[in-house]
Amino acid sequence: VTRTQYYTATSIDGFIADEDNSLEWLFTADRDNPDAPEDGAANRFDDFFAGVGAMCMGATTYEWVLDHDTLLENPQKWSGYYGTTPCWVFTHRDLPAIPGADITFVRGDVAPVHAAMTAAAGGRNIWVVGGGELVGLFHDQGLLDDVFLGIAPVFLGGGAPLLPRHFAADVLELVDMQRLGGFVNLHYRVRH
Ligand SMILES: NC(=O)c1ccc[n+]([C@@H]2O[C@H](COP(=O)([O-])OP(=O)(O)OC[C@H]3O[C@@H](n4cnc5c(N)ncnc54)[C@H](OP(=O)(O)O)[C@@H]3O)[C@@H](O)[C@H]2O)c1
Repeated sequence: VTRTQYYTATSIDGFIADEDNSLEWLFTADRDNPDAPEDGAANRFDDFFAGVGAMCMGATTYEWVLDHDTLLENPQKWSGYYGTTPCWVFTHRDLPAIPGADITFVRGDVAPVHAAMTAAAGGRNIWVVGGGELVGLFHDQGLLDDVFLGIAPVFLGGGAPLLPRHFAADVLELVDMQRLGGFVNLHYRVRH
């Protein structure tokens, strides 16, 4: 059965990017994580991504990926990261497509997009990459099943919110927790 999953890194105070939309704080924290097993974070992502059959993200995240990985100049990098996994990008604008990548631009209600992603996922899971408000739109319609957090030992004081919704304690079931050097990884299941 397809599960809809938010997998992200976050600061302790709940931001997934700083106020300049930068992730340098995360890369620095990853590099300065000497107690962590080598490739621990990469292996955790690979295990997660092996279960993913469709993915989606908001426009800021897409533009960050385009820019950070110079994907318009190096489009083959996309398949290096994500294989042939179909991706939906939520935007009101005409954003550039990455040549050869299976990307669909959509807007508005997430429910019909969720149905299309479920059909495409073929029984595997849906990864909602972010940002937090987009994940919140899925949760508003009862469509979010799991939250996987990699908490970096960092406070940012502001930035892009992790998940700007109210979840009471009885909504989230802690399924797993793991220490990876200075990072803490948490897996919560959303009770419907
Ligand atoms: N720490 C991590 O692991 C991690 C993970 C994911 C993302 N990030 C970073 O976090 C930041 C997230 O940025 P963000 O909070 O701005 O979120 P975002 O979801 O990436 O982008 C928000 C934008 O997406 C578009 N959008 C969202 N929902 C839409 C809908 N239903 N219909 C049409 N358009 C919609 C809108 O853009 P337009 O109206 O302008 O088109 C909106 O302003 C980025 O910098 C990203 O790189 C970090």
